[in-house]
Amino acid sequence: MPVVEPAMISKTLRDLFHTANSVLVLTGAGVSAESGVPTFRGGGQSAVWKGMPFEVISSAQMLERDLPAVWEWFNYRRNLLAQLTPNAAHTTIANWPCRFSDLSVVTQNVDGLHQAAGSRDVIELHGNVWRARCFDCDARYNSRELNCDEAVPSCFDCGGNLRPDVVLFGEMLPPGAFERAADAAQRCELCLVVGTSAVVYPAASIPEIAKGNGACLVEVNPERTPLSDFCDEVLTGKAGEILPLL
Ligand code: OAD
Repeated sequence: MPVVEPAMISKTLRDLFHTANSVLVLTGAGVSAESGVPTFRGGGQSAVWKGMPFEVISSAQMLERDLPAVWEWFNYRRNLLAQLTPNAAHTTIANWPCRFSDLSVVTQNVDGLHQAAGSRDVIELHGNVWRARCFDCDARYNSRELNCDEAVPSCFDCGGNLRPDVVLFGEMLPPGAFERAADAAQRCELCLVVGTSAVVYPAASIPEIAKGNGACLVEVNPERTPLSDFCDEVLTGKAGEILPLL
């Protein structure tokens, strides 16, 4: 994989980086890959857990059919994440509020690594594995404070079943999350799309909205995606290597 040198980043993009006020960064699983978080797709592969494609175990249907299995899958993911730390891509993005007066960080990730790196006010389109919520009364919990050895943890308030506070296939996004991201996409001058296969909607429509409103669209990814041909620039390589160069 060729490393992108500063010279390979066009003058137009370098200039825009110095003059832009309003910037949106949309991230996906690839931004956390160098921290050790497995991506769902990429390299011609699709993630499987205990023989189940992730779209099956991470689905609204599975929540109805086998809630303990959904908890087991998210406990597995949390245990993995507990040992991981942000990488250079997360820390670079966390420093950008010093450069851009209107920076929006929109993520599809549920790992909390942007916040661990210091990013504030991250728009989480797909929730967060470190939160749980009650089916019955909607009370929210920090998963670290729950006894996740139970097959299904119970709500302290009403005794109802808790579920991971993440968006599963077949579910709506959290109220307001897409609207905030779409607003930011409409006003940004530069939209950086980092480490996403850009196939899951509505998240994948954010760059389309930005481009449609005149933003410069830049992709950072070692592989091409359905978005690549639509971009003003494609920086081919790893987020942790490319973002610090910007
Ligand atoms: P994917 O796993 O679909 O895509 C990860 C992308 O990251 C691929 O395009 C890889 O080429 C790229 N990639 C890998 N290593 C990278 C690196 N070091 N630097 C930059 N890019 C790298 O992840 P998402 O697009 O985030 O949704 O997936 C979208 C949604 O699908 C997820 O949020 C999740 C999943 O189902 C839900 O769980 C609702």
